[in-house]
Amino acid sequence: MNEQSSVAHPLTPRLPSFFYGGDYNPEQWTATFGANEEEIWREDMRLMRLAHVNVATVGVFSWVSLQPDENTFTFEWLDRVMDLLAENHIFACLATATAAQPAWLSAAYPDVLPVDEQGVRHGQGARQNYCPTSPDFRRLSQNLARNLAQRYGKHPAFLLWHVSNEYYGGGCYCDRCASRFQDWLRARYGSLEAVNLHWNTAFWSHTYTAWEQVVPPGPRTEVSVQGLTLDYRRFISDMYLECYRGEADILHEATPDVPVTTNFMGIYRNIDYFAWAPYIDFACWDSYPTRTMPPAEIAFAHDLTRGVRRGQSWLLMEQTPSQTQWRPYNPLKRPGVLRQHSFQAVAHGADAVMYFQWRQSRGSFEMFHGAVVSHVGHEHTRVFNDVAKIGAELAELDSGILGTRLPARVAMIFNWSNWWNVEFKPGLSNALNYVDEILLYYQALWDRNIAVDVVPSDADLSGYDLVIAPLLNMVSEEPGASIEKYVEQGGTFVTGYFSGVVDEDTRAWLGGYPGPLRKVLGIWVEEFDALDPEQANTVVVAEGSKLPSGGYRCDRWCDLVNLEGAVALATYGEDFYAGRPAITEHTFGKGRAIYVATHLDKGLVSGLVGSLLDELKLAGPLSVPAGVEVTKREGNGKSYLFVLNYNDDTVQIALPQPMDELLNGGGRVTELKLPAKGVAVLRAV
Ligand code: GLA
Ligand code: ZN
Repeated sequence: MNEQSSVAHPLTPRLPSFFYGGDYNPEQWTATFGANEEEIWREDMRLMRLAHVNVATVGVFSWVSLQPDENTFTFEWLDRVMDLLAENHIFACLATATAAQPAWLSAAYPDVLPVDEQGVRHGQGARQNYCPTSPDFRRLSQNLARNLAQRYGKHPAFLLWHVSNEYYGGGCYCDRCASRFQDWLRARYGSLEAVNLHWNTAFWSHTYTAWEQVVPPGPRTEVSVQGLTLDYRRFISDMYLECYRGEADILHEATPDVPVTTNFMGIYRNIDYFAWAPYIDFACWDSYPTRTMPPAEIAFAHDLTRGVRRGQSWLLMEQTPSQTQWRPYNPLKRPGVLRQHSFQAVAHGADAVMYFQWRQSRGSFEMFHGAVVSHVGHEHTRVFNDVAKIGAELAELDSGILGTRLPARVAMIFNWSNWWNVEFKPGLSNALNYVDEILLYYQALWDRNIAVDVVPSDADLSGYDLVIAPLLNMVSEEPGASIEKYVEQGGTFVTGYFSGVVDEDTRAWLGGYPGPLRKVLGIWVEEFDALDPEQANTVVVAEGSKLPSGGYRCDRWCDLVNLEGAVALATYGEDFYAGRPAITEHTFGKGRAIYVATHLDKGLVSGLVGSLLDELKLAGPLSVPAGVEVTKREGNGKSYLFVLNYNDDTVQIALPQPMDELLNGGGRVTELKLPAKGVAVLRAV
């Protein structure tokens, strides 16, 4: 139907279309069916083809099925599955099967099991239930990866590597982890004296005099040394990265042309995904939004994932076709929602739409989790039908979209160490919520359909017109200098309360907050008023200000700011600091820096972001009614618009020039009529 470009998938020339498919775990149910397993597998192949599936993720939790004891490998069933996939022109995203170790392994090497904060060693069970520093775990998981690579490296179905699954990044409090932590600190700081200095341990007589005294923080040990808490989070994230790299290095060496990755979890606190970026070949994540999650929040998680490997497209590795089972309540996705979720991912740069899972397992923890093929076993279901329709749409979609980028002029800084620091720091306010504050500003950008790159603190900012970094409490010297240079050269920078207060070791900047950002912001923050939940203040924007005038509620936190070159765009309305600056702007070099001293109400965030975008002449790709998301992907000499309607009613959108609609029957259009939950993909002509 559509004029197809012959563009290959950025991850493989062998598949010139979106990846479509999902987790396929035949070993989990064949035995329980008691039937001829080949019959069921063949039926799976027929159904996959019906649903336009071209990639199946196999082996994710197959360790025991592949290796029933340390000296025995049983690859034969996987050989057969791989052959069947190849015969049916379906590719395999091959998992290394190491996210849940078999019982025999825990029994043979009990120190593989992690120790919790109470000092209790876990028993065998669940998944991601291993100590990340265990040499036996690493040796055996790497050995399995090596064997898989040898066996399937040249298999015609083999497409991608999927290492482990959703690294969890919880802590382990075993003695070995404690001693690995000491090594990690030695490498970071050089000496124990330096550790003491960076952690300010003279406080409460916490000075360490021997490395062995430094143990992981926890309720039974130490919760009062903030540097320790922060470094332990960094260390744990690094240890899981070492587990990943141990396997990935083997795979890269054995199959140098095959991309390697592991599936992330979006806005996930335990793992610093930016730090993993150099070791994965592409980013992917598993998206499980709740029914009421604002589309902007899902969009942010997509953008965050894209931000891990900026400039590349990414894969939606998992989503449920219907419902989860692990929440207290698990409503079905309403008709149209799955399609909207699928295309929203593509709209934010995904080149794959994949599910968890293909066939519903017969028993155990996830037996009622949504699947493409449910327990009934045939294709005559609402869910299968929806999945097949989306598959057909993606198969027909112009492959020119593959590998294209979202042209973003706006960046938001996201920083995991900062997140840990803000939320683990004792004192002042339990109301501080990093992600909340980020989403508050992201929402204002999303409402205007502004493309956003989510970048780490040390990113090159020079390509952006506007950089927003709310609650950036932790700013070290270098990123501070680069933000200053960015503004000096013409950039617009926005940050807010409690930012620039500590360095990367979580020690306060002396000589006036916001430390390295003080000069560029032209302010000095003298005090923090951490309001209790019954307290609030107002922010007053006077007539004639570039912000929409009026009085707005603010709460949670109020910085008491002195101007040092900046001007006040708004002031506090109440209390002993009424009249003092609440929002400031400082012209610096060719640019300006804005400081928002309090947790603003969303109306004023919207007003502020809107006024900056207007000044910078940044607008969304299409003028649309509220509740309609529009993104643009560009590249391969083409440009595409994705339009998604989240309203309960049909919206009508006039296009500035005729475009080719690639869904919904296609054709050249000058106007769009999108029903509730409708999606359109438009190509510029
Ligand atoms: C995660 C995991 C899957 C599965 C789903 C269920 O995304 O990666 O193995 O457990 O959750 O929602
Ligand atoms: Zn451990």
